[in-house]
Amino acid sequence: RVPTVGIDIGGTKVAAGVVDADGTILERIRTETPDKSKSPKVVEDVITELVLDLSDRHDVHAVGIGAAGWVDADRSRVLFAPHLAWRNEPLREALATRLAVPILVDNDANTAAWAEWRFGAGRGEDDLVMITLGTGIGGAALEDGRVKRGKYGVAGEFGHMQVVPQGHRCPCGNRGCWEQYSSGNALVREAREMAAADSPVAHTILARVGGQIDEITGPMITDLAREGDPMCVELLEEIGRWLGVGLANLAAALDPARFVVGGGVSAADELLLAPARDAFRRQLTGRGYRPEATIVRAELGADAGMVGAADLARLVARRFVRAN
Ligand code: BGC
Ligand code: NA
Ligand code: ZN
Repeated sequence: RVPTVGIDIGGTKVAAGVVDADGTILERIRTETPDKSKSPKVVEDVITELVLDLSDRHDVHAVGIGAAGWVDADRSRVLFAPHLAWRNEPLREALATRLAVPILVDNDANTAAWAEWRFGAGRGEDDLVMITLGTGIGGAALEDGRVKRGKYGVAGEFGHMQVVPQGHRCPCGNRGCWEQYSSGNALVREAREMAAADSPVAHTILARVGGQIDEITGPMITDLAREGDPMCVELLEEIGRWLGVGLANLAAALDPARFVVGGGVSAADELLLAPARDAFRRQLTGRGYRPEATIVRAELGADAGMVGAADLARLVARRFVRAN
């Protein structure tokens, strides 16, 4: 029942927390993700510092990392990360030389799916798909309580399925990826474009940032939408519609009973999910003649990746104790 540390490394933020066996967060700290131009080692320094800091106050027995990248079948290396500097990075080894506890590395959306299945909106449902909307789109398909990993570990990269031929460029190397249309980055890009074009509906957000378009953020858009600001409501609707279209495609391929939507953008709740359900129903193949999956918000919100990483680390730690 010992606490473990979970670390969620996204394209924008690093969240670290001490989590106990029933998923309760005992302490959490957050910091910015080092810029992509920095060496991979800089992110590893940040992880090490966060773990050592938490270890001052907690008896930490294992560390789980949920990384925003393509983790190999051994759950050891990050093969590629569109939003981070990692290219074939031996993350587990690099950290093992610096931390004296067992370490688990997995994809951030995979750890989020695990957390939601264990403690959140996925409880009791063995056929679910997790989608995280943050810097990019993270994905994981869970069947009978297991995250589908694929042959090489990188199944579930739904954010890089093409939805618009010749569409927006993506840091994965392609154009028109789903995450270019339905993510925190997409939301902010569209808001900044509308502000830059001096759209008549952009005056509220422009006033909020004092004309500094670069200071427009995702949470700001969500807050304004909640206050009823027409531009921000419209932008979340658009992100939601693209979400629904992508989910309909995933339903065609995977046929889950439930889609759990998490990540920072899911804080917008029904402002995002209502248009998503609408678009989903309109786009679903065979609609009217098939059972429809439900679309629900992640209960652990933006903490899911961190909580899941900590919980998976606990399993590894147990195995480690048994083997030694
Ligand atoms: C990456 C995924 C990651 C997701 C969410 C995507 O761009 O390819 O590996 O899970 O972003 O962080
Ligand atoms: Na994944
Ligand atoms: Zn892409």
